[in-house]
Amino acid sequence: MKKTIAIIGSSRRNGNTGKLIDRIALDLNIEVIDLLAKDISAFDYEHNNIDDDFLPLMDHLLKHDNIIFASPVYWFAMSAQMKVFIDRLSDFLSVKALKDKGRGLKEKTGYIVSTSISKEIDDSFLDSFTNTFKYLGMGYGGGIHLNCKQGYDTKHSDIELANFIEKINQGSNKPLMI
Ligand SMILES: Cc1cc2nc3c(=O)[nH]c(=O)nc-3n(C[C@H](O)[C@H](O)[C@H](O)COP(=O)(O)O)c2cc1C
Repeated sequence: MKKTIAIIGSSRRNGNTGKLIDRIALDLNIEVIDLLAKDISAFDYEHNNIDDDFLPLMDHLLKHDNIIFASPVYWFAMSAQMKVFIDRLSDFLSVKALKDKGRGLKEKTGYIVSTSISKEIDDSFLDSFTNTFKYLGMGYGGGIHLNCKQGYDTKHSDIELANFIEKINQGSNKPLMI
């Protein structure tokens, strides 16, 4: 049985993205890690931040097969919290002692959970994740996007949510829009 975990990067834990990932996590019975609760600082060329929460978090994530990245769209892009985390993946490429551990990402599949106030998800948002997965040798399992223009409401999204959850369980590959 594949193991799945989620990380959320939003400026509020219990906002639209938080509610959506919690709904998905409840069905999948998985842990959701809040990047806001972690001390992870921006990428540092000198690696003076090597002892912050990034490496322990990665050790934990790497024990799972599927990693769900949950982020709102902020200015056509991922949230700042998620971007700081993604930037830190560069530690695996630039710290010699971490390169082996970084290769562990090649066996992982990434999924994307997003919210915004638009029906369609921006390519700029999606591509920054999928290109990162590709660069790191990770698989991309698909994504789900919820339009929260009228507030958080999934009452018309039960089928799409069920399909996304099924997709994670099966490991297929087609993005969904709701
Ligand atoms: C700083 C900021 C920037 C935003 N930029 C966009 C955007 O570019 N496109 C969009 O559709 N919605 C945008 N929104 C709306 C959010 O994506 C939307 O309300 C989202 O569901 C918020 O999720 P949260 O509650 O997890 O923060 C933005 C909101 C904020 C606070």
